[in-house]
Amino acid sequence: MNKLGVLTSGGDAPGMNAAIRAVVKAANYNNIEVMGIHCGFQGLIDGKVQRLTFADVDNLADKGGTILKTSRCLEFHEEAGRKRALEVLRNQAIDSLVVIGGEGSFKGAEKLHELGIKVIGIPGTIDNDLSYTDYSIGFDTTLNTVLECIGKIKDTDFSHDKTTIVEVMGRYCGDLALYSALAGGGEIISTPERKLDFETICSELRLRIKNGKNDNLVIITERMYDLPALQKYIEEKLNIGVRTTVLGFIQRGGHPSAFDRVLASKMGVTAVKLLTEGYSGRAVGIKENKIINVELKNVNAAVVDKKDKYSMLETLLL
Ligand code: F6P
Repeated sequence: MNKLGVLTSGGDAPGMNAAIRAVVKAANYNNIEVMGIHCGFQGLIDGKVQRLTFADVDNLADKGGTILKTSRCLEFHEEAGRKRALEVLRNQAIDSLVVIGGEGSFKGAEKLHELGIKVIGIPGTIDNDLSYTDYSIGFDTTLNTVLECIGKIKDTDFSHDKTTIVEVMGRYCGDLALYSALAGGGEIISTPERKLDFETICSELRLRIKNGKNDNLVIITERMYDLPALQKYIEEKLNIGVRTTVLGFIQRGGHPSAFDRVLASKMGVTAVKLLTEGYSGRAVGIKENKIINVELKNVNAAVVDKKDKYSMLETLLL
């Protein structure tokens, strides 16, 4: 390996900095120079490349966001954009790359691998929507943030016997909603994998109210409903006041949890190790507590069979 580039791409996720730190430290350990590429694939096209030293990543593990900045780059979907990126890599003598991001970023990484650059992907997304890995960097921190927010809403719901709808992120994956409910955050959940219609949400709420449970939290994954319509439907059907809270970007920032820092560090070191051993076109992950790697071309954000997790939820919500 000559020179190693590292970039973060897609939505920022807590722990991305810890991954950058691990990549730089592991490369330094192997006497490999590292170049930081700013603003993801867009920065690569625009030639925003700067050397990253040990000092740049010191005390970085606990910082949210990404020091390299990130973007969602449409230009990279075009052949011309990828050609330009390749030129920049060649001019900078960068022959290896670590891409930290989600499914879209991995698609870009795969393209560069096909063009002859040695590439390893590290999963950095709060959505946890990559089926090849049990966890992606950022998910655990976001889950804890969601639980903290929900905990506060629950205090008020309990004190006033209120019902609140909370919308969490996740894109098309229900893990943030599902795990929040498993951790004790909510009474009714609706996710892309197990979508409840308006009437079912109402009948579940009606049953709870009938059983004397008057404070209820409905956790839903984003992009699924017209929220004002859902709120109005419940209010009219059950004759109760309902509030809606969209947690939004509160979920993406903040100090990464210990779990995410450790995961990011292990994955960063593994990515460099794979590159030094000559591997390319692979994504690092974690399965059953073991760090694994799979071919990038087999990575997708498919809806995973979560029957077990959902059946446990049924038991807990009874
Ligand atoms: O992928 C992370 C994520 O926060 C998703 O949960 C959400 O759907 C999306 O990014 C929002 O994208 P943007 O930051 O581009 O609005």
